[in-house]
Amino acid sequence: MGPALTEHKWYRKAAELSDTGMLTMARRLPALIGQVLRLGWRASRRDLAATIAFNVVAGVFTAFGLLATTGVLTALLAAGPTPDRVRAAAPQLLLVGAAITVRAGFAAAAQWAQARLRPQVEQIVEERLYELTTAIELAAFDDAEFQDDLHRARMRGVDSAPSMVDNAVNLFTAAVGVAAAAGALGLLHPVLLPLLLLTALPEGWAAVRAARLGYLTQLDLVETRRRGWIMSELMTERRHAAEVRSFTVRAFLLRHYAGLAAHIRRVMLDLARRQTMSQVWGDVLKGVATALMYTALGLLLWRGMMPLAVAGTAVLAIRAGQTSLINLVYALNRCYEDGLYFGDYTAFCQTAEEHVRRPRRASRADAAGHAEALPGFREIAADEVTFTYPDSDVPSLHEVSVRLGRGEIVALVGENGSGKTTLAKILAGLYSPQHGHVRWDDVRADDLDPDVLRGAIAVVAQDHTHWPMTAADNITMGDDLTAPGVLPRVQEAATASGADQVISTLPLGLDTLLDKRFANGCELSGGQWQRLASARGFYRDAPLLICDEPTAALDARAEHHLFEQIREHAGRHGRTVLLITHRLSSVRHADRIYVLEGGRVREQGTHHELMALGGLYNELYELQASAYRQDADDIHATSTGNRHLQPEAQP
Ligand SMILES: Nc1ncnc2c1ncn2[C@@H]1O[C@H](COP(=O)(O)OP(=O)(O)OP(=O)(O)O)[C@@H](O)[C@H]1O
Ligand SMILES: [Mg+2]
Repeated sequence: MGPALTEHKWYRKAAELSDTGMLTMARRLPALIGQVLRLGWRASRRDLAATIAFNVVAGVFTAFGLLATTGVLTALLAAGPTPDRVRAAAPQLLLVGAAITVRAGFAAAAQWAQARLRPQVEQIVEERLYELTTAIELAAFDDAEFQDDLHRARMRGVDSAPSMVDNAVNLFTAAVGVAAAAGALGLLHPVLLPLLLLTALPEGWAAVRAARLGYLTQLDLVETRRRGWIMSELMTERRHAAEVRSFTVRAFLLRHYAGLAAHIRRVMLDLARRQTMSQVWGDVLKGVATALMYTALGLLLWRGMMPLAVAGTAVLAIRAGQTSLINLVYALNRCYEDGLYFGDYTAFCQTAEEHVRRPRRASRADAAGHAEALPGFREIAADEVTFTYPDSDVPSLHEVSVRLGRGEIVALVGENGSGKTTLAKILAGLYSPQHGHVRWDDVRADDLDPDVLRGAIAVVAQDHTHWPMTAADNITMGDDLTAPGVLPRVQEAATASGADQVISTLPLGLDTLLDKRFANGCELSGGQWQRLASARGFYRDAPLLICDEPTAALDARAEHHLFEQIREHAGRHGRTVLLITHRLSSVRHADRIYVLEGGRVREQGTHHELMALGGLYNELYELQASAYRQDADDIHATSTGNRHLQPEAQP
């Protein structure tokens, strides 16, 4: 098992975040920027470097243009006839024009590089997530907390990465703009500088507060939203559409959904109110600060401490600086908010990383040696296996020991919930038991690379997936049909499972897409899907075949055929078969039968030994057999004594 899956780390994080202020935000900014740089670097070094460099150059030209403006104003405001003044200002004016043009060119180039970064970041973040979600141990998916984390990482976390990079670049662009304006202002008059910064503080406070409120609210709503999502799936997916109608469950679903939606609406309306309030306060304070700044400028002019041309440029620089400051605060706020959501993503990736199962022993040479020995095993055994599902209090298996000799058919029987599927999944390497272990001869399964182990096992699952792919892909799981030897194996597997009859009715045969959601897609019946699932198991070239109720949906003829084929596979192909079924007549020929009850092995032996024992197996077998015997008796009675009554007995 990985680390405890039930750690409530999330709520600790929430409490910590509710104390987040501007200072915390500033303190976290470097780490955030570091994250962005690393992400951007991995996505595209060239575009990251280009956007930074072009932005800096554009900033230099902004400052240059502002300072050149002072020259223009000085010439225009000098004494003398207007035409002379305009003529004197002309060279400076040209400079200003050139600065603005060059700046615009670099800004456009920077924006282009920034726009290119976004999709590239998106791709690496998504790929990483799917690499992890497909590799983590199955048990993680049984844990509600883990599901929540996954949901958050997937719904907001993934989107937050490109947006965070985008906003970090915006933040940088705005910071360059502010630096350019501040540099120009500082050169014009040092007093103007602190005043410019003062106007940014209130807005910054308001924005940070709004972001924090938003984030904490989302946090509160995660569970509700996930429920809403599940409800939405129930009401919109084709898979559930029939049952929603036949059980007239529509009103119930809508009512349930309305309850969730009402809760979300209440919380969001409250959030909007609180966010608006902090925005209003921010605006009021910003107004006061702006008034203060202009008053100071007026005073400087009045006292003759600043020439009019300089004051004119100062107004332009302040306007430019303020626009950049607002952008800066906005980008900072967005970047911080994205950073919080991205934190969910990175935290999830970290947790997920811990849940990726790796061999217990580090030595690769060892693992490789074991892997080669797998196909030639003599015996697979579960030794005193105890397993409890995550989030569950009672073990589903208690000290269960079973043994599968090479080439044997071993059956697991028992009533619903007795632990058959759980044991099969443990033998298949999908779950790791808390106590005891599974071994292939002397090699413990958890010493093996999980992929190598699973490569040696074919599973026909009880709740098999209806893969929305072609019939061929449903059997080969991605092998190329045109590759040498693939097609004959597909045909052999299809014949063994009875899937050949299904495929022959499909309009494009093996190439038919089995998903009604797409044009020309076909749908199969439950039994037809099950035949494909068995074909998948037969096709896979693995020494251990696990069949979990492979005939539950099959008709009598197909069922008989499949059990025969399973025996044939064990005999002719030398495959070991673990067969789980409720049809006890079909396990008569098994080499060994384990009877599970309440997660324990209650009885074990051959059919004859178990019948002689007169225990649970005997009882279940007699129950099934008596139904047929009863029918046989009825038919016998009808066809002898009551023959003359038959026409009247017909309805
Ligand atoms: N993912 C899960 N999380 C928690 N408990 C589970 C999970 N899957 C199964 N269980 C529990 O484990 C026990 C054994 O379930 P299992 O699916 O192994 O039974 P089974 O013998 O295969 O039954 P059936 O004949 O109905 O297929 C049951 O009590 C069930 O409630
Ligand atoms: Mg089962």
